[in-house]
Amino acid sequence: MSEGPRRRGMTDDAGRWMNELTAEMEERRKRIARGGGASRLAAQHAAGKLSARERLEMLLDEDSFAEFGAFVEPLREGLEAPGEGVVTGSGTIDGRTVFVFSQDFTVMGGSLGKMHAQKICRVMDLAVQVGAPIIGLNDSAGARIQEGVDSLSGYGEVFYRNAVYSGVVPQLSAVLGPCAGGAVYSPALTDFVLMARKAAYMFITGPEVLRSVTRQEVGPEELGGADVHARRSGVAHLVGADDRAVLRLLRELLGFLPQSAREQPPLRPNDDPPERETPELTGLVHPDQRRAYAMLAVVRAVMDERRFLEVHRGFARNVITGFAHLGGRAVGVVANDPSVLAGTLDIDASDKAARFIRTCDAFNVPIVTFVDVTGFMPGVAQEHGGIIRHGAKMLYAYAEATVPKLTLIVRKSYGGAYLAMNSRDMGADVVLAWPTAAVAVMGAEGAANVLYRRRIEAASDPEALRAQLVDAYRARHDNPYLAAGRGYVDDVIDPKETRVALIRHLRRLDGKRVERPYRKHGNIPL
Ligand code: HXC
Repeated sequence: MSEGPRRRGMTDDAGRWMNELTAEMEERRKRIARGGGASRLAAQHAAGKLSARERLEMLLDEDSFAEFGAFVEPLREGLEAPGEGVVTGSGTIDGRTVFVFSQDFTVMGGSLGKMHAQKICRVMDLAVQVGAPIIGLNDSAGARIQEGVDSLSGYGEVFYRNAVYSGVVPQLSAVLGPCAGGAVYSPALTDFVLMARKAAYMFITGPEVLRSVTRQEVGPEELGGADVHARRSGVAHLVGADDRAVLRLLRELLGFLPQSAREQPPLRPNDDPPERETPELTGLVHPDQRRAYAMLAVVRAVMDERRFLEVHRGFARNVITGFAHLGGRAVGVVANDPSVLAGTLDIDASDKAARFIRTCDAFNVPIVTFVDVTGFMPGVAQEHGGIIRHGAKMLYAYAEATVPKLTLIVRKSYGGAYLAMNSRDMGADVVLAWPTAAVAVMGAEGAANVLYRRRIEAASDPEALRAQLVDAYRARHDNPYLAAGRGYVDDVIDPKETRVALIRHLRRLDGKRVERPYRKHGNIPL
């Protein structure tokens, strides 16, 4: 049956109508995609930054981005804010789903209004329901001043989710511009903060306000640049030279994390054989305990393809933290570095390690601990600064963690720091030691002085007696066999067998489950 003219005409009208509507939609979409316009985009590029959309393109797998809420408008009428200053949606990274938001500095400085916040909250809620990481690309001047208390309310909604979703799905924050106020507290509540060395700053109050309130003259770089936060404040976990480098780091970091706390991190099969020996480790550690060596070399030698992503590299360098793969499994590494502050644990090192251990535990990443530590750092500044409170965090974090926990004692492991570095009694599943290991309450010199002070002072040649007593103490205590004899060390291994042994034990711990007594939540000393 042929179509009547009237019917055909209607179809034509509808088609034309739809085409017009589609063209209008496209026009609106293009306007939104232009953000704050050509001149502001040029300024963004001139500052060495990518646009919000360019960043998403670089971060996500090709053609994987699905946008939400492009047409959302500001709560307050009269404000011109295309896309509400933030691009939100989902995509994939190495084929795995992620939810993302990317703030657009060209739109009112990426400032956060109520609807901007709601766009972010929507992707956060979906990420948790789906069980996928949330990645925020932050480039924002903080609360949108024009929206007053509504913008504060918006931040409240975001912070609330940052906290409540903590440990549910990984939350990763890249800081890629001058972020102020609430724009720094949201990243600070997430699992990882990455910063670009070029053009990224983080501060609660910017240089202008500081000048007017406190008369302090300080530039943005000096106040809150990437190096300040990577080395001094410890706010930034990873730093890249620019946007591109940070986005690459984000992709790499995600490869060590599961989609959610309900899952395991992805396996990464590789060509590095699990049975590879590590002969380069023989002779690396000098028997003279005062001689430093590069602990990083030990860590790298053991890990798959000798690759190690160091996290918090510039901060509290006396302890090393980071991710690697061992026999294809993701692991978190905590290691003393005897070449920095003699590898002692101080306030910052304790904070750094405790935080990392908790992150690994939250996301089912087994922890491998490399030990060479004389103790907690002595001194008035440390005591008054609260080394007791901060050091307690490490003890707490290791004991609390239920993921597989392996320890390798490389050289010395003394006193409270022996316990703090994942000893058997603090919950280690397997403790291995090299023959160079020395497990004791304290070093030989300190011990001899405490135990034999009177005898030494009364001797005709005090120095000769002291040396003799130190040697005797060392011969008895500075070895791994007293601890192994009590079962505190499970095995003493040849350094060249380190990789093989760690992989073997790690495999056996697959499926480890630990039940803990009921509680609402623990109360880690903060
Ligand atoms: C609305 C803002 C804005 C804001 C900047 N802009 N900050 N709009 N609300 N908070 C606008 C500017 O008017 C400008 O618009 C554009 O964004 C770019 O800003 P510039 O100052 O030109 O950029 P730049 O020189 O790069 O300086 C960036 C900056 C600075 C360092 C971030 O803008 C600044 O200090 N802003 C104020 C930061 C602040 O105090 N935020 C509130 C924090 S309180 P045009 O039209 O010219 O392009 C907060 C509350 C929550 O966040 C606290 C929770 C704990």
